[in-house]
Amino acid sequence: MKNIAIIGTGYVGLVSGAGISDFGHKVTCVDISKNKIRLLNNNKIPIYEPGLDELVKKNMSKGRLIFSSDIDNAIQNNEIIFIAVGTPQKENGEADLSYIESVSEVIGENLNNYKVICTKSTVPIGTGNHIIDTIKKYNKKKIDFDYVSNPEFLREGSAVKDFLWPDRIVIGTEKQSTFNIMKEVYRSLIINNKSLVHTNVPTAEMIKYASNSFLALKVSYINEIANLSEVLGADIHQVAKVMGQDGRISPKFLHPGPGYGGSCFPKDTEALVSLSKKEGIQLKTVEAAIEANIFQKNHMVKKMKKLMGGDFSSKKIAVLGLAFKPNTDDVRESASIDMIQEIINAGGSIKAYDPIANISMSAIFPDIDYYESWEEACKDADGVVIMTEWNEFRGLSLEILKSLLKEPVLLDTRNIFSIEKLNEFNFRYDNVGRKHL
Ligand code: UGA
Repeated sequence: MKNIAIIGTGYVGLVSGAGISDFGHKVTCVDISKNKIRLLNNNKIPIYEPGLDELVKKNMSKGRLIFSSDIDNAIQNNEIIFIAVGTPQKENGEADLSYIESVSEVIGENLNNYKVICTKSTVPIGTGNHIIDTIKKYNKKKIDFDYVSNPEFLREGSAVKDFLWPDRIVIGTEKQSTFNIMKEVYRSLIINNKSLVHTNVPTAEMIKYASNSFLALKVSYINEIANLSEVLGADIHQVAKVMGQDGRISPKFLHPGPGYGGSCFPKDTEALVSLSKKEGIQLKTVEAAIEANIFQKNHMVKKMKKLMGGDFSSKKIAVLGLAFKPNTDDVRESASIDMIQEIINAGGSIKAYDPIANISMSAIFPDIDYYESWEEACKDADGVVIMTEWNEFRGLSLEILKSLLKEPVLLDTRNIFSIEKLNEFNFRYDNVGRKHL
């Protein structure tokens, strides 16, 4: 059993902390936000993430998971320190490393015996060296430490599952002895024969950016092929399905939609491009993925406008789904933001509903109307746009939907409805990449 501190209780820190404590280690999760720690100590999880509540409660009750705002003590009393603080995006696309910087200083100041310092946050390639230098600068007593890059591959909405059953665990460290310590942390997963990969630090950092950028590129690619398919009369679902049957391509991340969002793909692609520019290397493919994504979000607005007769003014539009994907309350970079903004700018009004994310979206759009059910949001609306593929929308009755709307107008940006059904109920509709109207 290892004694581990995790600095930062955002979704990465909290899921990792709960997951690692579930492996049997003693974990102290710390955060500078006293309010967050108070909530957690009162059994309140500050984010919506399926299964996290149970995992946290279970391990707290076993005494293996502790929450504290005393960062100094957590560093001094633990042998492995995970850095899991946020790296938001700066105006110029670069990652803002100020939290990483200040945590590195605090770690340096509090080193009192040998420790492994491990970064989980997504940091630009080369940041590891900077963290090491900063810790050394503040480590006045010259205590020995080693550094590891251990990027996470958690998807919001299935982060607990991804943590407990990962495809791979990447441990970036120059030393075999440090790798062996980290192997102990993930021992219960290794018993299950999960692949643990030993790399150097920059390779681990690059794997994270290369993976996210590739997935973003894959989504942008299928979105562009979808746009072309619908013009040519091809069915994107069949195209994607058969493409995916080629093992070299794989069927995952080939679902067309309104453009990717979230806290990772938009930020990480921008950060990688910005880093590559600094190095004088052009990443044309990643730049194109970003551009195609901006186009796609805008393309959805145009589709909706066309369905509404070319004008949003004085139209009441129901927006179903605000989160950037299902099973999360995160609305960061969600395509629904662009849709709502454009409708408002053009003089329309919004009737919004998301099973979980109404509150998060109200921080961005405090003045639009939020409802507690899709039925209320759609009542008397001039049209409806589906922005997130929540299960409850997949199952909704088109007959009831039609009876609620003023006009049976629907844009399905996630292709969750069958075209036959939409035709059967005489909807004026559009979707992404399948024949319509
Ligand atoms: C992503 C990666 O998938 C994780 O592996 C990574 O750890 C995480 O970023 C991170 O860096 O922390 P996440 O942003 O939670 O995870 O969500 P994804 O499931 O990857 O979806 C991203 C966006 O792409 C969503 O807007 C989603 O709707 C869209 N998408 C995804 C599609 O439009 N089509 C697809 O086929 C797949």
